[in-house]
Formats: sequence, C-alpha cells, structure tokens
Amino acid sequence: MFGSLFSLFSALLLAVSYLVSAAPVQPVELLVWSPTITSPKLGDVWLTGSTQNVTWLIDDIPDEKKNSTGLLLLGYFANNSENLDIKHPLASGFPIAWGWVDITVPTNLTRRDNYTVVLFGDSGNASPAFTIKPNATRASN
Ligand SMILES: *[C@@H]1O[C@H](CO)[C@@H](O)[C@H](O)[C@H]1NC(C)=O
Ligand SMILES: *[C@@H]1O[C@H](CO)[C@@H](O)[C@H](O)[C@H]1NC(C)=O
Ligand SMILES: *[C@@H]1O[C@H](CO)[C@@H](O)[C@H](O)[C@H]1NC(C)=O
Ligand SMILES: *[C@@H]1O[C@H](CO)[C@@H](O)[C@H](O)[C@H]1NC(C)=O
Ligand SMILES: *[C@@H]1O[C@H](CO)[C@@H](O)[C@H](O)[C@H]1NC(C)=O
Ligand SMILES: *[C@@H]1O[C@H](CO)[C@@H](O)[C@H](O)[C@H]1NC(C)=O
Repeated sequence: MFGSLFSLFSALLLAVSYLVSAAPVQPVELLVWSPTITSPKLGDVWLTGSTQNVTWLIDDIPDEKKNSTGLLLLGYFANNSENLDIKHPLASGFPIAWGWVDITVPTNLTRRDNYTVVLFGDSGNASPAFTIKPNATRASN
C-alpha cells in the first residue's frame, strides 16, 4: 500500500514515462487536455470478470493529441487518495482519440462502492465513484 502522495506521484511518473516512450518524436506539449469520462457513471455496478466499455468525450480533443495513446488505471477513493493500482493497468497503449476502450474487470477485486478509473493522457482525469462486486453466480468466486 502506497502513501497517497507517493502513489499519485508514481502514477504521474509512470504516465509521463509511458507517454514519453510512446511518442518520442513528438515535440514537448505545454497544452493540457483532460478528457471527461462518460462511463462508468456515478453508482454504476461492474461485476468482476465482466467486460466493460470505458468511454470519454473527444469533441474537445486538440489536434496535437489526436495521435496520443492512453493509460487507464483502476483506483478507489479512500484516505484522501485515489489509491491507483499502477501495477495492473486496466488498459494501455490505446488511442485516446477513440473515446473508448474495452476492459476486463479483474476477478480478484474486493467489493467497494467507491472505485474510480483514471484516464491518463496528459493529466489524469478520474471518473465518478462506482461499484465492483463479485459475480455471485460464478462458482469459483
Ligand atoms: C464502446 O462505446 C463507444 C461509444 O458508445 C462505441 O462507439 C464502441 O463501439 C463501444 N465499444 C464496444 C466494444 O462496445
Ligand atoms: C497523426 O498520424 C497521422 C497518420 O500517421 C498523420 O498523418 C498526422 O500528421 C499525425 N498528426 C499529428 C498531430 O501528429
Ligand atoms: C471507500 O470505501 C472504503 C471501504 O470500502 C472506505 O473505507 C472509505 O472510507 C471509502 N472512501 C470514501 C471517500 O467514500
Ligand atoms: C486507510 O489508511 C489506513 C492507515 O494507513 C489503513 O489501515 C486503511 O486500510 C486505509 N483504508 C483503505 C480503504 O485503504
Ligand atoms: C490480483 O491479482 C494480481 C495479479 O495476479 C495480484 O498482483 C494482485 O495483488 C491481486 N489483488 C488482490 C486484491 O488480491
Ligand atoms: C457471471 O458468472 C456466470 C457463471 O459463470 C456467467 O454465466 C455470467 O456471464 C457472469 N457474468 C458476468 C457479467 O461476467
């Protein structure tokens, strides 16, 4: 378990190094674009092991970001932190310009009502809180 500042800092470092390695030939951008996440919505419920379509708005995507790739992390709000799981990204290397990415919810998650996903393009943007709970009909859970 990381401290909150450290975890945010590490996540940003990871995101930055990731973006740098993904786009080494692009010039340094001072422009910051924070895509608004439209799914999951507040109070949504995801089952472990299910496939989910995470979506975000791209109407305001700047030209400079149209070829950027993204990083999507799962976290949960607690202790004044997003508690991002930087070791197990939900998705990475997808084009931000798509506005969506399909993910599989990890099967071994604890039930919480305040999960969030954070999409890193330039700066991270968190979704509202939502629930993940075990798939009760799945025998192995
Ligand atoms: C995810 O949602 C977007 C926006 O509604 C849609 O265009 C896309 O086809 C969906 N992807 C899948 C795999 O369902
Ligand atoms: C994005 O990629 C396309 C196709 O490779 C290229 O034509 C375009 O110039 C690129 N745009 C930017 C802003 O890098
Ligand atoms: C998030 O949930 C955890 C346990 O599920 C709880 O301890 C924590 O207080 C909650 N945080 C917020 C901000 O709701
Ligand atoms: C909040 O922090 C305390 C002390 O570090 C820890 O014991 C607890 O598990 C944390 N709660 C959550 C939901 O992560
Ligand atoms: C879930 O599984 C991953 C990879 O197998 C492991 O690293 C992680 O600690 C597990 N998480 C929990 C909450 O057990
Ligand atoms: C839950 O588990 C059942 C039994 O394995 C399976 O049929 C169902 O598709 C699962 N639901 C989701 C959302 O993964």
